[in-house]
Amino acid sequence: MTILSVLLLFILLSIQLNTSTAQTWIKAGYWYTGSASPVPNINSDIFTHLICAFAYINTSTHDLFLSTTDQQHISTFASTVKRNNPSVTPLLSIWPQNGRPGNHENSSNFLRMADQPAHRKSFIESSIKTARLYGFQGLDLYFTNLLSTNENMTSLGALFDEWRVAVDSELKGSSENQEKLILTMAVHYLPELNSVSYPIDSVRRNFDWVHIRSYDYHTPLIDNFTAGHTPLYDPSSMVNTDYGINEWIRRGLPTSKLVLGLAYHGYAWTLVDPRDNSIGAPAKGLAITRDGSLSYEYIRRYLKDYRVNSVYNSTYVINYCAIGSFWIGFDDEEAIRTKVAYAKKKGLLGYNVWQVPNDYNWELSKAAAGEVNKHDHFKRVLAFTLSIVASVILLLGCIISYHRRRTIISKVKQMMNRGKSSSPNQQVISFADIREATNNFLTENKLGEGGYGPVYKNNEIEASTDRIVGTYGCVPPEYIKQGTYSRKYDVYSFGVLLLQIISGKKNYNVYGPHQNLNLLEYAYVLGKEGRGMEFIDPSLDDASSTYKLIKCMQVALLCVEEKWAHRPSMLEVSTMLSNENANVPIPRRPAFSTNKDEEEKSTAAKEVYSINIATISQLLPR
Ligand SMILES: *[C@@H]1O[C@H](CO)[C@@H](O)[C@H](O)[C@H]1NC(C)=O
Ligand SMILES: *[C@@H]1O[C@H](CO)[C@@H](O)[C@H](O)[C@H]1NC(C)=O
Ligand SMILES: *[C@@H]1O[C@H](CO)[C@@H](O)[C@H](O)[C@H]1NC(C)=O
Ligand SMILES: *[C@@H]1O[C@H](CO)[C@@H](O)[C@H](O)[C@H]1NC(C)=O
Ligand SMILES: *[C@@H]1O[C@H](CO)[C@@H](O)[C@H](O)[C@H]1NC(C)=O
Repeated sequence: MTILSVLLLFILLSIQLNTSTAQTWIKAGYWYTGSASPVPNINSDIFTHLICAFAYINTSTHDLFLSTTDQQHISTFASTVKRNNPSVTPLLSIWPQNGRPGNHENSSNFLRMADQPAHRKSFIESSIKTARLYGFQGLDLYFTNLLSTNENMTSLGALFDEWRVAVDSELKGSSENQEKLILTMAVHYLPELNSVSYPIDSVRRNFDWVHIRSYDYHTPLIDNFTAGHTPLYDPSSMVNTDYGINEWIRRGLPTSKLVLGLAYHGYAWTLVDPRDNSIGAPAKGLAITRDGSLSYEYIRRYLKDYRVNSVYNSTYVINYCAIGSFWIGFDDEEAIRTKVAYAKKKGLLGYNVWQVPNDYNWELSKAAAGEVNKHDHFKRVLAFTLSIVASVILLLGCIISYHRRRTIISKVKQMMNRGKSSSPNQQVISFADIREATNNFLTENKLGEGGYGPVYKNNEIEASTDRIVGTYGCVPPEYIKQGTYSRKYDVYSFGVLLLQIISGKKNYNVYGPHQNLNLLEYAYVLGKEGRGMEFIDPSLDDASSTYKLIKCMQVALLCVEEKWAHRPSMLEVSTMLSNENANVPIPRRPAFSTNKDEEEKSTAAKEVYSINIATISQLLPR
């Protein structure tokens, strides 16, 4: 009884601890359409604000518009993230630089718009209308590229003033029970560079907060030395977050309007000399991906594959690791925790992440939120419960055995007393005899070894159902592209798993002589060339099962076809696998192929969807 109440108290307390978080502390994060990670996967619970990026500005009408490919994701973003956490605030981010993210553009078009009162009005009205249309509760301006231009900033200040007035007066006289939209802005880590400055007074007056883009300071495209791209400190340079934050404060922005930026990506360099792999070591360009950027998720998998540990450097507050001639700098949980502690100590308003889908099992987000990892938490509660249960059982066991021993002893005494008189020939079997007999019995009943060869065991990641595996993993293309959950979703996932099992290879690596094929395409190419056995894990191969393994591979390839209608049903899969004479069609080129077959080129040219390794990381707006 007492133990039970202690247990109950403990569980209640731990639940309390998890839910009591300060309301005013901002825990924000971006989701960028270029990430190709489905919105429903976002764990909204660990955020107060989620920002959907990006809406663009029409240069002739100055209205906001969504690109046709983004339309579907952005229009359902707010309702989707609120389904998981009704109290999360969704914001729509606006891209004011010319062109699309990743093109190193400046903001000249935006500044020209800001120069004309009529154009400002169009922009402002359209921004509010678009936010309301799709259920966003605020607007964010990703205005970090101010410094490449020298245009006058006064008109920008006017735009911000008018925007605030419009937002404040939007609901005046309205009977609807709605809240005012909030206005936020992503800014460069410095308030001024080359004598161009943000209109800081106007920013302070009009925005609910600004978040510092405190990342991408150093990239392998620009710097020929290794570096953390998002250092909190740097004793030898001004290029660090602490310096930038202090500059913003010095120029008059209160800490209560400042939000720290966190990066869930790192960069990979190629070292000049693999033996010199310290921070600041000579480097000759990027590594691994097209621009050297890697999601934290990818980095974690990479480290796991190579069984490498990263090094935490507290001077800069970054993590890095070296694998051969590759060098990767990034933030891990410890770096993130240190930065969040810094933000709290400094009196900032919170943090904002670029970008949420790059996390690995929500490790960084949980570290940032100061949450005990749910997994660890569960393990702790379990360990505690088990230890109590074990002690209770042990105690009961002791009491019972003590009583039984006493009973047995008294019985034996009785028997011996009686035996002396009535059964002098009774045989006594010793304990040693019994042990010998039962030991034999146990050995013979040992579990068999099984005749199926070795059994193959975000392994842990692939078994969990609440997260999508890998970059695309077991998720079929229709879900990634359109968010549709087809009837053949599971068939696709089964196909990917089957390919991994028979090859013993991982889905997120690249294969082939040019290292440019994903696992599915690699299987297809080898199969087509009649070299299927090269795909099969050698430890599975035995002369009698060759035919079956190739058939398995062929069935798996049918399951991962691009169009879900082409994939077999699970019933057909089972028939093909179990029936020797079943007709197995020739598979088409699988989903996410880099190449296309000739006959498909004409019809499917528009649908080219590559999954070469470079697309694993996202194009990052700078
Ligand atoms: C911008 O607006 C004009 C006029 O409505 C329209 O013709 C044009 O297609 C729009 N451009 C974009 C990129 O939406
Ligand atoms: C900004 O980009 C435009 C092209 O989009 C270019 O014409 C212009 O010269 C650039 N301005 C500056 C200041 O870099
Ligand atoms: C900005 O415009 C104001 C007047 O609107 C002018 O006095 C000032 O010199 C301009 N500054 C620059 C750098 O163009
Ligand atoms: C961090 O790295 C720099 C450069 O390699 C080194 O000088 C410094 O001692 C390191 N700091 C720590 C705490 O390891
Ligand atoms: C790196 O670049 C600087 C100047 O851009 C140059 O002086 C230096 O030699 C370069 N170092 C290497 C290792 O290429």
